[in-house]
Amino acid sequence: MQGLDADAPIIDVGGGASTLVDDLLDGGYRLVTVLDLSESAIRSAKVRLGKRAEQVIWLTGDIIAIDLPEQHYDLWHDRALFHFFTEPEQQRQYRDRLMRVLKPGGHLIIGTFAPEAPPTCSGLPVQRYSPQQLVATLGRAFELQRQHKELHTTPGGVEQMYVYCLFRKKIEERP
Ligand SMILES: C[S@@+](CC[C@H](N)C(=O)[O-])C[C@H]1O[C@@H](n2cnc3c(N)ncnc32)[C@H](O)[C@@H]1O
Repeated sequence: MQGLDADAPIIDVGGGASTLVDDLLDGGYRLVTVLDLSESAIRSAKVRLGKRAEQVIWLTGDIIAIDLPEQHYDLWHDRALFHFFTEPEQQRQYRDRLMRVLKPGGHLIIGTFAPEAPPTCSGLPVQRYSPQQLVATLGRAFELQRQHKELHTTPGGVEQMYVYCLFRKKIEERP
């Protein structure tokens, strides 16, 4: 990400076996954390990266419950995890966690199913969001800076419209 220092702590939540971590390492980022509930997804990312996996902090656990350092990360990335939290209480817990561990002035990149996407992902119900609905859910502490939509077609031919938003956590404001 433009303007992000190579030593800026970055976390990819629900990163799974995604290749974002490969791209971040290629980009010279040195403090990358990948967190996922699934041990097998983490294992497959590690196998793919080989020796380079040693440069990454791997965390296996639930984003809502796992211990994370406070006010630590400059960038929180989430593609297709948050939308699985369909209960308001889960969304609140996720937001509280995000508030606690993202530095003031830090950034959030979030990708979720858009309103026109299917109501389920991998057979599980999802909450679909417009950028405005993400703004409302995340609260006043986050300022929307950029947004775009992208159509993803699964290997099985299912079309999934995603909304991607870049937010900045305000320096002073409380949620
Ligand atoms: C649809 S996949 C997205 C993977 C990756 N972000 C990508 O875009 O390719 C959702 C991921 O979230 C993980 N996940 C689901 N619930 C989680 C939770 N409570 N805490 C952490 N990870 C979770 C799953 O194991 C899975 O790897």
